[in-house]
Amino acid sequence: MKNIVILTGAGISAESGIRTFRDQNGLWENHDIYEVASPEGFHSKPDLVFEFYNQRRTQLLSSEVRENLAHHALGRLEKEFDGDVHLITQNVDDLHERGGSTNILHMHGELLKAKCQRTQKSYEWTGILNDQSICDCCQSKGNLRPDIVWFGENVYHMDKIQNLLFKCDLFISVGTSGQVYPAAQFVSWIPNNALSIEVNLEKTQISNLFDKHYLGEATKAVSNLVNDILNGELQ
Ligand code: OAD
Repeated sequence: MKNIVILTGAGISAESGIRTFRDQNGLWENHDIYEVASPEGFHSKPDLVFEFYNQRRTQLLSSEVRENLAHHALGRLEKEFDGDVHLITQNVDDLHERGGSTNILHMHGELLKAKCQRTQKSYEWTGILNDQSICDCCQSKGNLRPDIVWFGENVYHMDKIQNLLFKCDLFISVGTSGQVYPAAQFVSWIPNNALSIEVNLEKTQISNLFDKHYLGEATKAVSNLVNDILNGELQ
């Protein structure tokens, strides 16, 4: 086994204090998804959308949120595995980076970045973002938005993601409900002889597409899985 590709979703950050999207008390509960995660929503209520992501960014940078054992285990896997380990994440937090992973593709964008709508240039952004924010490229107000992929927009890095999936021999999906495309399809794109493993609290609507399952909280299940891989005990 030489090429491992891992897809992560909100479930891996749940034990870090970041709410998932579709579980009870999910992030979307008090908001209509399209209001805060679509270009149309941003166009009609920019203040609400800026505020929504400002709150998420502030929380991510507060002492409330820390990377957890699952993030650390994946960081360790990348360092210690004798082969390539690539992470594709739907999460917009930076907890994989804090957990020591470096080969990361953020397919849904990043909370700690802002994007100029005129030039598409992306900037590190840790403070408050609003219609008064100024980008370096235009030196004018009103062009920046959260660098998040909203509904109806193209996900980032699709070419790289496809190439990684086509040549992987182990595909692992962690903490994602399998309800959002294209991520929900990735398991179908891997080679026939590749092994697929799903890690989740419970079975999902795409569980039947995976060869193996590690059921349980990500902190325990991912740590166990990484130990099994590194000890050569994966069947
Ligand atoms: P969801 O909220 O849809 O699913 C979270 C999954 O994590 C569920 O299957 C839970 O069972 C599982 N889960 C919860 N806690 C867990 C834990 N402690 N350990 C292991 N699993 C746990 O989140 P995503 O699948 O990531 O897109 O959602 C995909 C996309 O939908 C998001 O990236 C977001 C949203 O629209 C954008 O923001 C563009």
